[in-house]
Amino acid sequence: MFLITGATGNVGRHLVAELATAGHKVRALTRDPASARLPAGVEVAATADLPLDGVSAVFVNPAVFYTGFGDLLDRCREHGVRRVVMLSSLAAADPDEGNSIGRHHLVKEQEIEASGLEWSFPRPGAFATNVLSWAGQIRETGVVRGPYAQAEMSPIHERDIAAVCALALTRDDLVGERPLLTGPESLTFADQARIIGEAIGKDVRYEEQTPEEARADMLQNPHMPPAIADTLLDLWAGAVGRTAPVFPDVERITGRPARTFAEWAADNADLFA
Ligand SMILES: NC(=O)c1ccc[n+]([C@@H]2O[C@H](COP(=O)([O-])OP(=O)(O)OC[C@H]3O[C@@H](n4cnc5c(N)ncnc54)[C@H](OP(=O)(O)O)[C@@H]3O)[C@@H](O)[C@H]2O)c1
Repeated sequence: MFLITGATGNVGRHLVAELATAGHKVRALTRDPASARLPAGVEVAATADLPLDGVSAVFVNPAVFYTGFGDLLDRCREHGVRRVVMLSSLAAADPDEGNSIGRHHLVKEQEIEASGLEWSFPRPGAFATNVLSWAGQIRETGVVRGPYAQAEMSPIHERDIAAVCALALTRDDLVGERPLLTGPESLTFADQARIIGEAIGKDVRYEEQTPEEARADMLQNPHMPPAIADTLLDLWAGAVGRTAPVFPDVERITGRPARTFAEWAADNADLFA
């Protein structure tokens, strides 16, 4: 039995579907089982209960444990859980101590590593889903307002992250690995806006804001801590005009090339049209 925390999340939902389709037993955790819309045949439980009986491996979404793991790792050992796969971040590979996103994930990796459980830490870079925050602007005006139009990243399709996480749970060869997960190409924010436009047959352009305007907009989101907003703005400033790294690990591990941003935009076109 695989226990999936954050099962309704960007990655969790695809991970649950992938494991269930492959015939694995899955227990999916959500704070609100009544409205979770998880696939039939999947056992759904409340996050607060964290039921670990019969579980061999746990998928940890750090968003669920933002303030700490509590007794999670002790309880895993008590219940005979063998393995923890945590959705980490490419930023954890960044030795820059000022990067609060990297530090947050690295501390959690170290805690799991010290627990004596088997571990695997897939480290994705920017999720393609981040641009879902543009959907309203694209639907209404076709203009995306944001900072650093020429900042480059290699956005990854969440299904590729889920595919690697599924293999890390079900196969033994990723134990002790920190795969670096990116999409297959370096794209600017302006490129991503244009590609979404191509997917929906509409002229979409990116209009650059000052970093101060962007910061104020980001902090309108009550779930965006100021330290994370500042880290993101610093990362994007440093990414202007710099080709983003593309790593081979998605293809090495899954045996398929990483999905392109154009494929992601086509898969999600209805959300922007
Ligand atoms: N976005 C990026 O570019 C990026 C890049 C690298 C790494 N990451 C990391 O990936 C992780 C996020 O993954 P994701 O996008 O798949 O997750 P997500 O979609 O943000 O959310 C995961 C799920 O966790 C549950 N959840 C959220 N807050 C919670 C809380 N306070 N307590 C308990 N449950 C909570 C929610 O499920 P319910 O409402 O059903 O309970 C939610 O659906 C983060 O650690 C992030 O730093 C993100």
